[in-house]
Amino acid sequence: MTDELSRNEYIKEASRYLRGTLAEGLRDDSTGAIVEDDQQLVKFHGMYMQDDRDLRPERTRKKMEKAFSFMIRVRMPGGVVTPKQWLALDHVARAYGNETMRLTTRQTVQLHGIIKSNLKAMMREIDTVLLDSIAACGDVNRNVMCNPNPGESRAHAAAIELARSISAHLTPRTPAYREIWLDGEKIAGHDEGAVEPIYGKTYLPRKFKIVVAVPPSNDVDIFAHDLGYIAILDAQGHVTGWNVTAGGGMGMTHGEPETYPRTADMLGFIADADAVKVAEAVVTTQRDWGNRKNRKHARLKYTIEDRGLEAFRAEVERRAGVTFEAPKPFKFTSTGDRYGWSQGDDGRGHLTLFVENGRIHDLPGKAQMAALREIANVHDGDFRVTANQNLIIANVATEKQAGIERIAREAGLLAPWSGLRRNAMACVALPTCGLALAESERYLPDLITALDRSLAKNGLSADDIVIRMTGCPNGCARPYLAEIGLVGKGPGRYNLYLGAAFDGSRLSKLYAPDLDHDGIVAALDPIFAAYATRREAGERFGDFTIRAGFVAKTGNGADFHANIGQPSVAA
Ligand code: HEM
Ligand code: SF4
Repeated sequence: MTDELSRNEYIKEASRYLRGTLAEGLRDDSTGAIVEDDQQLVKFHGMYMQDDRDLRPERTRKKMEKAFSFMIRVRMPGGVVTPKQWLALDHVARAYGNETMRLTTRQTVQLHGIIKSNLKAMMREIDTVLLDSIAACGDVNRNVMCNPNPGESRAHAAAIELARSISAHLTPRTPAYREIWLDGEKIAGHDEGAVEPIYGKTYLPRKFKIVVAVPPSNDVDIFAHDLGYIAILDAQGHVTGWNVTAGGGMGMTHGEPETYPRTADMLGFIADADAVKVAEAVVTTQRDWGNRKNRKHARLKYTIEDRGLEAFRAEVERRAGVTFEAPKPFKFTSTGDRYGWSQGDDGRGHLTLFVENGRIHDLPGKAQMAALREIANVHDGDFRVTANQNLIIANVATEKQAGIERIAREAGLLAPWSGLRRNAMACVALPTCGLALAESERYLPDLITALDRSLAKNGLSADDIVIRMTGCPNGCARPYLAEIGLVGKGPGRYNLYLGAAFDGSRLSKLYAPDLDHDGIVAALDPIFAAYATRREAGERFGDFTIRAGFVAKTGNGADFHANIGQPSVAA
């Protein structure tokens, strides 16, 4: 590691609060790209510049520029949008994007394939329905997540309110977003004043992610995130305060054991009134203590490992003027979604739909975009993206429930699925993600079909087993918290991880590296057979793989890379 700050720090510093030369770059119609430094800055505005990797060979042969386009990620705290906002997203996806919408693992919507000359029109259109994409990517607090199930209505109301308050408090205040995308007026004196009272000129050392969970559901995967709030409820279901967690994160790099996924630590319990103050204190501590020299060691998880949890907690207490109490008891049971209808206390219904890998598109016989548009046109509740890449049609009045269910069923959004498929997630990977080493979204459905044959043979088709795949070790679909995790290594090859907990509280461990399709199926088949015959009553697959000695248990942090190939003590 050098003593130099990372390159991104200089780019941020010189950017005049995220302006860079984006406005000029958008006007340059000689290329579909923007310049390199602006490619970093545009992330703070919620966009990634990408190119269609399927088209690369052909375009290189023809000596053409790569097929550049942009991915735009919307900021929607708790994953909630109105039907009107849904219709606007659907429209821009069809008018400017690749005619699909991608529900993400962090409760937002991503649109792919928007060419540079359409960016401003698209941003204006989502602005008219009060949506934006500021801070959806970049070294800032990203989309704040929240348990999306409105069934437990009192706790849920408090949770979404907290998610929205934190999101509003930590959204960058730079006028650059309005100036660049919405032709907003230039605000005089913007460089001198305290434009960003929380972030300052150089924002955070790295991305920052906050979630709010309502037990017993850990659907937001709280331990994967930098900062988490666990609702503590009284006997009437009111939130009395929050257990706060810090220092979770997924990303790592193959072959660099000093990088690792990490589950968050417990800081302690706080009153509801202190929750936003604590968020600010954690963020500013990370702003000042986080590593700005090495971006691979810059997440809060490493700051806490380097400084120690006690020192970190004390600093947060000092900055917030709050003392953490001992954490209150809570229990998580799963990270999955509850499919189908659930009824709220107020008699309104909530219908959770299954959207495979979050990709909504119109395929022959499976017109899901059109179906959701039809629902949005009659629905007066809201739409909620879950952290499992699914969609809840929430707050449906009794008289509309049958009609909405029919539309969803006809579009294949309610079909019966195997226990493995309904607990599956894949990141985007190819063809859009520039970091992908292997397929993910386009391959996982076929792998599940193959694994389902093996599960059926063993009578396990209906069992809930969590499987997640990513095209590289960055871990966008949180594979290290899946009972079966597959992480891309190279074209058609994956590392297989086993042994994570069903409730999202324990990481997995590498079981076998560099497997191809047949290798994955061959590796898992005997483990499924063993699980079918030797599991204890109620024993989860992840727990079984440890007890039966297939992998050792992972504790925390650097322990992820320890004892690989060392079977745990068999029972
Ligand atoms: C070091 C790490 C990471 C880098 C450089 C990175 C980069 C990216 C890129 C380039 C994409 C765009 C892919 C596309 O849409 O074509 C993406 C998608 C995404 N990333 Fe990451 N990512 C990292 C880690 C993570 C982690 C740890 C999470 C969550 C815990 C996450 C959450 C997401 C989500 C939700 C998406 C949207 C697509 C999806 O749901 O799979 N990322 N990431
Ligand atoms: S895990 Fe890797 S391949 Fe998948 S979307 Fe994230 S960065 Fe891209």
